[in-house]
Formats: sequence, C-alpha cells, structure tokens
Amino acid sequence: MTYLSPLGYLLGIEGAALLRGIREASADQAFVEARIAEIRTLLDAPALAHAEGVTATPGTITAADVYQEWAPHYDAPGNDMIDVEQPVVRRILDSLPTGTVLDAACGTGRHTAYLRELGHDVIGVDASPEMLAQARKRLPDVEFHEADLHQLPLPDNAVDTVVCTLALTHVPELAPVLAEFARVLRPGGHLVLSDAHQLVSYLRPTLPRRPGPDGRPSLLPEYHRPLSAYLAAALPLGFQVRHCEEPRRPRHSLDSDTAPDPLPTHMSWDLLHWCPEASAAALDDSPLVAIWHFQLEGAPRV
Ligand SMILES: C[S@@+](CC[C@H](N)C(=O)[O-])C[C@H]1O[C@@H](n2cnc3c(N)ncnc32)[C@H](O)[C@@H]1O
Repeated sequence: MTYLSPLGYLLGIEGAALLRGIREASADQAFVEARIAEIRTLLDAPALAHAEGVTATPGTITAADVYQEWAPHYDAPGNDMIDVEQPVVRRILDSLPTGTVLDAACGTGRHTAYLRELGHDVIGVDASPEMLAQARKRLPDVEFHEADLHQLPLPDNAVDTVVCTLALTHVPELAPVLAEFARVLRPGGHLVLSDAHQLVSYLRPTLPRRPGPDGRPSLLPEYHRPLSAYLAAALPLGFQVRHCEEPRRPRHSLDSDTAPDPLPTHMSWDLLHWCPEASAAALDDSPLVAIWHFQLEGAPRV
C-alpha cells in the first residue's frame, strides 16, 4: 500500500535536486537557497495543501488493463522514453544480418515496422489484444500472435534475432523470459533488449491508475532492475554481451511553456511544472533506459 500525494512528490523532486546538486558539485549557494525557498512556497501553496493524496495498492491492476486503455494513444508523440530509446535500438538493429526476427511484446508494432523496412521476416507477439489490433492495422501482412513472453508460440531454434523493448519492466523474473528467448533463437542469434532504467524507480514515481476492482486507486507493479540483474539472467544461458548503453534524458526536457496545473487533483508527471528548475536539476541528463545487445553462443546460420 502506498500513499501518493502531489505535495510529497514535489518535495521529493526538490530533495533529489538538492542531493544531486551536492553530489555533482553543481549546487551553489543561490541554487540551494532557491530550493529551500521553493520548498516553503510549495508547503504554503493552498492548491497543493488541498490536493489530497490517494492510497493505492500495487497489483490491483494488470498490464493487460493498462494497455487496453493505452493502445489507441500509445503511438502519440511526446513519450520521452521512446524518444530516447528508439535511435539507440535502431542503431543496433541496423547492424544485424537480415533474417527472421521475433518482436516479443511488440505492442503496436513500433520496432516491427522498422524491422520490416530493413528487410527482415518479422513475427510479432504480444499479450494485449488491443495493442496487437493497432499493430495489425499498421502492418496487415505481418504474422502476429497473442501470447505471453513466458510461452512463445514458436518452435526451438526458430529465429535469428529476438527484439524485446520496454516490456521486461512488467515481468517479475527475467530468467524464465530470457530462457524462452534462448530457446527460440538459433545458435549465434542476437537478442536486443530495452527496458526502463532502474533510476526511473527513484526519479519518476509510478502513478496511480483508475480504480481497481475494490473501487480504490490501483498501482501497476513495475520491476526496475540493476544492470547486474540482466547479466545474472543472460550469461548462464550462453548469451554474450555485445553492447550495453544507458541513454539519458535530454537537458531541458521539461517544456517550460506549460503552466502548472492550478489545482492538482492527482499525482501526475505534469506536476513537475510546479518546480521546473528543481525538476531539471533532478531529472535532466539522468539515465532513462537500459539497452542491451546480446549474442547467443554458437555458430550463426550461414
Ligand atoms: C511499453 S509497451 C512496448 C511495446 C513495444 N515493444 C515498443 O517498444 O513500443 C509494453 C508491451 O509489453 C506487453 N507485455 C507486457 N507483459 C507481457 C507479457 N508477459 N507477455 C507478452 N506481452 C507483454 C504489453 O502488452 C505491451 O504491449
């Protein structure tokens, strides 16, 4: 059970800005005093004082529920994680030999479409019928399956590459899913992963969602991991690391033209506009995504 309050969130951002500024020696006296003054202003702001928090229970909503709602808007511009992730993943995909690729948890087919452009035969798998419906609309001639990452509908040694992007945050254990990827990959096959960076856990709170079955705000469980967790799951399966990258949130990522919500009624990333300088200091240039390129041991198919 977590109590989520708009004021608590903003004080946390101020605290993160102060700690990071001290650690990185970027916080001069004026910056520290500005943060302290802003904390007083936030504490005194009637809109925030009256913005009650909510108590939410993790696990009262599933990824399927979330993506059912998100599917029609998932591809809308403005997703900072995708903006940071996509160029790095594409650079890795550009380097791979053409073949058969599984886009695992393909969603609306963002990378599936790019893989097709590169000339691969692509199979898309996802657990959400609504996300798959968007993918099928976008790519009517691609083979898509509704299935879970833990039980892929493919025989052993079926593909040359597995791509799985921004989805592992939903699975509680990496090892069984990576074992499934290893099973369907041919020897020498490539595995390209992207996932929300562990720092996201600390710098960007999980937001409460619409009421769960008990009528109260719900929280989707998310699993943010240290880089060692990917290695611990991948290396025993015979994967070797080809590349690892942690692209960062750009500087000035907060759109300064947006005014603060005059009456914040719930926790939202838009709340950052209440304290733009602290938000920039806490969040800008912080790692947002972990991206991996692994290759399975063994001779690749000729
Ligand atoms: C953030 S979206 C990413 C979609 C796409 N890979 C992309 O990068 O744009 C996460 C996707 O993972 C899917 N997903 C989550 N858990 C899954 C599971 N256990 N099995 C299959 N798909 C899953 C969701 O349905 C959703 O479409």
